[in-house]
Amino acid sequence: MKEQLLEILEKSKIDIKSAEDLNQLDQFRVKYLGKKGELTLLLRGMGKLSSEERPVIGKLANEVRTSIESVLEENKSVIKEKEKLARLESEVIDVTMSQKTKKVGHKHPLTLVLDEIKDIFIGMGYKIAEGPEVETVYYNFDALNAPKDHPSRDFSDTFYIGNDILLRTQTSPVQIRTMQNTKPPIRVISPGRCFRSDEIDATHSPMFHQVEGLVIDKNITMGDLKGTLDTFAKRLFGINTKTKFRPHDFPFTEPSGEIDVSCFKCGGNGCRMCKGSGWIEILGCGMVHPNVLEECGIDPEVYSGFAFGMGVDRITMLKHEIDDIRLFFENDMRFIDQF
Ligand code: DAH
Repeated sequence: MKEQLLEILEKSKIDIKSAEDLNQLDQFRVKYLGKKGELTLLLRGMGKLSSEERPVIGKLANEVRTSIESVLEENKSVIKEKEKLARLESEVIDVTMSQKTKKVGHKHPLTLVLDEIKDIFIGMGYKIAEGPEVETVYYNFDALNAPKDHPSRDFSDTFYIGNDILLRTQTSPVQIRTMQNTKPPIRVISPGRCFRSDEIDATHSPMFHQVEGLVIDKNITMGDLKGTLDTFAKRLFGINTKTKFRPHDFPFTEPSGEIDVSCFKCGGNGCRMCKGSGWIEILGCGMVHPNVLEECGIDPEVYSGFAFGMGVDRITMLKHEIDDIRLFFENDMRFIDQF
């Protein structure tokens, strides 16, 4: 029996060492040490041994069992370590591989400047008003006191969709819509797209952007207009900016004016940007015409107000020294990425 025990020990060692995974290892454990395993079966025959042999074989059997168990344990760690290494190798990440770069977009320069303009007026208590880009002749011209023969009504300047419908040429119609829909006091700005049948060149685009402003209340004067727009100019172009009011003519305001700001590039000395004059025109403005107030059901004897309109494209071009308006609409990322 002693030989058989030693034989089992030798065989089991060879088997166990040949196991390639934990599953196989367990099969060998069952094969030798399990309830019906070789060692167990052999020991069932112990009853036939003499009383001298029994303790000797018993002791040897225990040693064989312990040996098999320790070989099993040893091999278990070896297999586990091998499996771990194989897993690490298969899951390896090559950190030197060049990754696909994800391009994160950002705001268009026109939107950035529009956001600045909005912030300034919202900070002064203005609300944002919106109106349609496809307008009627009434809102775009008639209600704004534009004479029937005003040149801007001409087919060569305005995109007509029908006799009475057009693409708005200015954001001023939003003034009318606002005054007809809300009671004074009114303080709104209205940013949006406008359209004019202009030939495309470095400073003209048939689609462009304006911001309209409107304030209506009791006792609003030219002083309020000047103070508001001077503050706006200083916030947008810098605290040292000076403003200059020049008389102008718009059908919907009386008196009307244009505002120039001192050139923020040369400080007013004269340079290429201000064409040597030291001043740059930035917007049109004026006191809302009594005819316009009346058309909107607001009594000009009780209320007065001012309005203004500016080109966002032009202001963005000035602020960022962009010399071609077409760059805004070509969507070339090499341009847009610079802002
Ligand atoms: N709508 C004018 C334009 O397109 C700009 C403008 C001037 C708007 C004076 C106004 C204003 O509200 O009072 O040229």
